[in-house]
Amino acid sequence: FSAKKVLIVYAHESPASFNAAAKDAAVAALTAQGCTVEVSDLYAMKFKAAATTEDITGGVKDAENFCYAKEIKLASEEGRLADDIKKEQEKLKEADLVIFQDKKAMLSFTTDCPESVYSDTGINGDINVTLWPLQNGILNYCGFQVFAPQIFWDPATGSPESRSSMLEGWRTRLQNLSSLHWHA
Ligand SMILES: Cc1cc2nc3c(=O)[nH]c(=O)nc-3n(C[C@H](O)[C@H](O)[C@H](O)COP(=O)(O)OP(=O)(O)OC[C@H]3O[C@@H](n4cnc5c(N)ncnc54)[C@H](O)[C@@H]3O)c2cc1C
Ligand SMILES: *[C@@H]1O[C@H](CO)[C@@H](O)[C@H](O)[C@H]1NC(C)=O
Ligand SMILES: *[C@@H]1O[C@H](CO)[C@@H](O)[C@H](O)[C@H]1NC(C)=O
Repeated sequence: FSAKKVLIVYAHESPASFNAAAKDAAVAALTAQGCTVEVSDLYAMKFKAAATTEDITGGVKDAENFCYAKEIKLASEEGRLADDIKKEQEKLKEADLVIFQDKKAMLSFTTDCPESVYSDTGINGDINVTLWPLQNGILNYCGFQVFAPQIFWDPATGSPESRSSMLEGWRTRLQNLSSLHWHA
């Protein structure tokens, strides 16, 4: 058994947030199990989310009729992606095992609304429908084996005890994840 490499992509603007606590719990629990954990802190990095010509170096082929999909494909093939993208791609490649299809992924996030709001009769609709394009369209399509998401329902409203128990459940789940699925 060799230690696994884990990449956590973290996006929250406040280090005092529940999201930060969930990230820290994951780093601690996984590190304690001997994993190497890297965090991409998107806000701290000021990672640019918009898809623009800045993602491409060496100039675009057709600036007048800029088509991101075509230009980014070409830039990728020719090694002309911007450094911030290359760095994240490198981290993804490094993370866990060698073969891309062996890679596993899991979404971990909080909400501001209770679970009932994300049901088929709730105002936001079935959470699984919302997650489908991310979990299936992006992660599964790119070769990840996707675990069930870790959803912290409305941590801001609950008591400190309920938040502590959410974090404790998260730690336990992370311990289970590695013992059940990684040591195979
Ligand atoms: C513009 C915007 C719009 C949004 N709209 C929606 C929406 O429509 N619907 C929806 O579901 N979500 C929405 N969200 C997401 C929602 O705000 C967050 O999911 C929610 O606030 C909980 O995440 P947080 O980390 O920000 O919690 P915070 O509000 O930062 O923290 C929640 C509580 O946890 C406490 N806490 C921090 N660390 C710990 C710790 N170690 N142990 C125990 N407690 C701790 C904090 O002190 C605080 O009391 C929105 C977010 C933004 C930015
Ligand atoms: C979404 O899927 C999970 C896992 O199958 C299930 O537990 C949950 O109840 C589903 N949510 C809704 C709103 O149907
Ligand atoms: C952890 O794994 C055990 C054994 O499979 C199971 O009984 C338990 O429910 C799991 N706990 C969590 C939080 O997933």
